[in-house]
Amino acid sequence: MNEQQRINELRKLLERYGVEYYVNDAPSVSDQEYDRLMQELMALEAKHPEMDDPNSPSRRIIGSVLEGFEKVVHAQRMLSLGNVFNKEEIDEFVTRIKKDVPDAEFVVECKYDGLAMALQYENGRFVRAVTRGDGITGEDVSNNVRTIASIPMYIDEPGYVEVRGEVYMPKKSFEDLNELQTAMHLPLFANPRNAAAGSIRNLDSNVCRQRKLDAYWYYFQNAQEHGIGSQEKALEAMSALGFRVNPIRKVCRTTDEIYDFIQEIGEKRGTLAYEIDGMVIKLNDLAAQQRIGTTAKAPRYATAYKFPAEEVQTRLVDIFVSVGRTGRITPNAVLEPVRVAGTLVSAATLHNEDMIKNKDLRINDMVVIRKAGEIIPEVVRCIPERRDGTQIPYVYPDECPVCGSRLVRLEGEAEHFCVNPDCPARIIESMIHFASRDAMDIDSLGDKKIEQLHEWHLLNSIEDIYRLHEKREELLEKKGYSAKGVDKLLANIEQSKQQPLANLLFGLGIRLVGKKAAGILADEFGNMDAIRQADEQTLANVKFIGHVTAQSLCAYFAEPENIELIEFLAAQGVNMSQNKKETKQSIFSGKTVVLTGKLNMPRAEAKKILESLGANVAGSVSKKTDYVIYGEDAGSKLAKAQELGTTLMSEEQFEQEVKNAKK
Ligand code: IVH
Repeated sequence: MNEQQRINELRKLLERYGVEYYVNDAPSVSDQEYDRLMQELMALEAKHPEMDDPNSPSRRIIGSVLEGFEKVVHAQRMLSLGNVFNKEEIDEFVTRIKKDVPDAEFVVECKYDGLAMALQYENGRFVRAVTRGDGITGEDVSNNVRTIASIPMYIDEPGYVEVRGEVYMPKKSFEDLNELQTAMHLPLFANPRNAAAGSIRNLDSNVCRQRKLDAYWYYFQNAQEHGIGSQEKALEAMSALGFRVNPIRKVCRTTDEIYDFIQEIGEKRGTLAYEIDGMVIKLNDLAAQQRIGTTAKAPRYATAYKFPAEEVQTRLVDIFVSVGRTGRITPNAVLEPVRVAGTLVSAATLHNEDMIKNKDLRINDMVVIRKAGEIIPEVVRCIPERRDGTQIPYVYPDECPVCGSRLVRLEGEAEHFCVNPDCPARIIESMIHFASRDAMDIDSLGDKKIEQLHEWHLLNSIEDIYRLHEKREELLEKKGYSAKGVDKLLANIEQSKQQPLANLLFGLGIRLVGKKAAGILADEFGNMDAIRQADEQTLANVKFIGHVTAQSLCAYFAEPENIELIEFLAAQGVNMSQNKKETKQSIFSGKTVVLTGKLNMPRAEAKKILESLGANVAGSVSKKTDYVIYGEDAGSKLAKAQELGTTLMSEEQFEQEVKNAKK
């Protein structure tokens, strides 16, 4: 055997040992033996650069850094699932399916709380991993997925294979990660799902590998092309190919059976090594799945049962209030740390004074907390039976905890406000908002840095952000500020001047002007002056804006201080305009259009173009459809359109019409 052949042999061998170890939990060789073979492979690969293969087991332990992720259009959309919340709704689902498929069987599986992923293989070789994205277009994250040890790079199956599943962060990895973040004084991850998503979207695959992700595979996308007829068989086949498939699953026939199994798993979900937020019920027969089909967003043949929000008890240790950028006061609960739905919770928002009063919350009370939508913890109620005399009623403050000025609670409003415009808390929060991602997106000017620079009197207002370059020397003397870091920060600030008008408008923090409203106003008026000069009625006439927001805008622009800020920003060269959005005149204006088949351009792009031409893009063909634009392999939608006599248009014709559209 020559060295090239040995390389191939070692790759196969190490791949197999990897599956035994990471997927089946049943290694047949010792760690030493595995390491020895890996060393041998790496030495040989170093001698034979011509045999380089990103799928090699050796490459999975040496990461690399990318510039960005490539967008990939899914051949078949990645759907999401409808939800059911109780036994009745499960029964409605089962009954509906049985109407079409009288002897239906269902596979019940865990619903993982991670991120959906598609893996593609060609003739046994891993070629690509793509995130779900918006379901139509995802991102190629192969580089990171290769670092997940349990995912096979070589499988024993010819042709094209696509499997889909969920990449997640095991509970243990999540705890280790947050411990590390704490030690390094970095912000904690809110939950395993966010941590997993952040890891998969990191451009440095070394980071992803250190995060110790794992995955379960639950969907064989083109199973039928491989002679597989049911979900049960698809799971078995994937498992046989070396994919990690969860043994927790059951084929059921009745609602009772499904429900009992769900209850059984629900009771022990706390003991699982990974988070599940529900169970998925899928019709077993794949041909029947296809017959039943999908709605625009989700399959009709499957649904997700969501577990009720987990409730736990803990002690309310203290209440403190914080001040937001608008001066709004928010009371917060300090809790004795407890685990809820997989994450450690030690704080919760209490919204306002009335909530504390209505729930009669007292300091040192035992309280019930739960995670609404599994992310934001809330205090549900207190447990008066567990009071022991040490409880103290909470007295709502009448002074701002930061600047000491008197708080104001307006008639009919639930919230208190600090109305001192010079309140440091408000100033800091407004700068944080201004620099944030959806506003001026000043990378490297995050919360912590703003707070610190404010403490050093280097940032006292939004204006100061654009004056920071005058303080370069001073910054360089500060601990933790290298010349490189400071110059990067200053460059980022400089660059932020180019942000679109909508971002600036949002960043100013005008009450009720969120991201969406800012975008609409920027599109409609095209520049800051036009918005400033518009009267209340003109603003209120803009679609989706309304009177209250218009009032708030006028109030903002009536303040000389705000005008000074805007003029200062303009003088600094901050972008104050953008092209007005003009809907071009075309044959699509006001028409309903359906896209079908494989188009050359990404579907999302086609949709965007059509919408910019004033069309309404619909998901299915009906009598109301005006045009159907079709690509290759168009199926039932095209047939239906022909049947209804809808105007058909090829992608080429569509492109021609786009060119014909005039301003
Ligand atoms: S099947 C048509 N099975 O839940 C197939 N999805 O809420 C649709 N998910 O986007 C997916 N565990 O990311 C399926 N056992 C499981 C799942 C699962 C988690 C995720 C998946 C999907 C989301 C829908």
